[in-house]
Amino acid sequence: MITVNNVHAFDFDSVPIDPFWNTGTQREQKMHKIHAYPAKFPAFITTKALEFWKENNANPPRRIADIFCGCGTTAFEAKRNSIDFWGCDINPVATLIAKTKSRKYQSGRLQSYYEKILREYDENKCLDCFDSAPERLRYWYVKEQYNELAHLRDVIFSVTPDNSNYRLFFLCAFSNILKPTSRWLTKSIKPQVDPHKSSPRVIDAFKDQFKMMYSANEEIKDLTSSESNIVTGSFLKNSWEIPPVDMIITSPPYVTSYEYADLHQLSSLWLGYVIDYRELRKGTIGSCYHEYNFNKELKRLNSTGLKIVSLLLDQHKSKSRSVAKYFLDMQAVAGKTFSILNSKGVALFVIGNTEYKTVRIDNAKHLTESLLNVGFSSVSITKRKISNKILTPYRDKRGKFTTNGEGRKIYSEEFIIIGKK
Ligand SMILES: C[S@@+](CC[C@H](N)C(=O)[O-])C[C@H]1O[C@@H](n2cnc3c(N)ncnc32)[C@H](O)[C@@H]1O
Repeated sequence: MITVNNVHAFDFDSVPIDPFWNTGTQREQKMHKIHAYPAKFPAFITTKALEFWKENNANPPRRIADIFCGCGTTAFEAKRNSIDFWGCDINPVATLIAKTKSRKYQSGRLQSYYEKILREYDENKCLDCFDSAPERLRYWYVKEQYNELAHLRDVIFSVTPDNSNYRLFFLCAFSNILKPTSRWLTKSIKPQVDPHKSSPRVIDAFKDQFKMMYSANEEIKDLTSSESNIVTGSFLKNSWEIPPVDMIITSPPYVTSYEYADLHQLSSLWLGYVIDYRELRKGTIGSCYHEYNFNKELKRLNSTGLKIVSLLLDQHKSKSRSVAKYFLDMQAVAGKTFSILNSKGVALFVIGNTEYKTVRIDNAKHLTESLLNVGFSSVSITKRKISNKILTPYRDKRGKFTTNGEGRKIYSEEFIIIGKK
């Protein structure tokens, strides 16, 4: 770890890779794999962060938080280590998964709800409701699959108790079979149809999904309980009562990140989180969904942000607006992070740089300056390798990782930035 006192006198490129942060030493728990989530970080990041804490503190943290909790990687690791947790994410699909991973389930009850679901699914008639389906869902499904999914969803609602952990568990299972049973191009991180796809039958996909989740729960059923509070909404816009936090372990969205909301449109529509999935873009970090006064707001950028936005302004005006909004949001994130931490609290961010055309978007430098500006007494940084991006460091127009240098460059390394209060 290298301590940064002055971002402008510091060469971020010269930071060596620290192998400590590259890989984990244990197999990931099955619970981490119960639902796909595109920007998930590896679970060992949390393990390493907790080791880092231990080196510097006599007692374990009483509560950790993840302010962009995604599918609950930090949340689940907190539970595994019997540490209380607070987390939020603006995407309701993310918090559905994160909550599911954080709750406790009795094996016998899981099994009996499952059998009841299968019974009711078989005994009741699957109705044809395709013609009255929302247009967007008609686009993604063939009629038979749509009808079977609608039937399964209704059965889950009728069998599981309102607001119970078990309903959450089965809705999460339902959510993860929505893509494989649709016409969505397999593994594509951009929404696009595969006209030749042969999808599994809904009930078969559900059975496999249940088996996988059941066995994930078996692996951890003896854990002692800790408190977990996960809420849906923007970290910046909401004034939740956040209990005192010793450590934040998080990875913010990337500045030029793909739209998470679009990727989860099937779950959002099926589970009724929104009527138009584009609504979910509102309020995400860096989203320009609401008009904002670019020229006026520019003055609030810190010096790193201003330098990058000025470079973009000459060549790519519309991109400069969205990058500026991202930086302003991240400055606000730094401030709010500081305010929710205990007096000796620590915030750990995993963040990568990116590039737009020839302009480098130096997120790590911008965040370091933001943390120093809001009062963190020290900020130290190190670098890690991202194993799956070493050979394919670019994204093509469809968002797929590629070796083709024409695409948008994603660096094969990212920074670990630690602010101490
Ligand atoms: C890089 S991902 C985090 C992934 C997480 N570490 C995991 O392992 O699943 C960033 C997350 O930030 C969320 N996000 C974006 N804007 C947000 C906001 N304003 N408030 C809270 N969460 C936000 C996105 O929905 C996304 O889940």
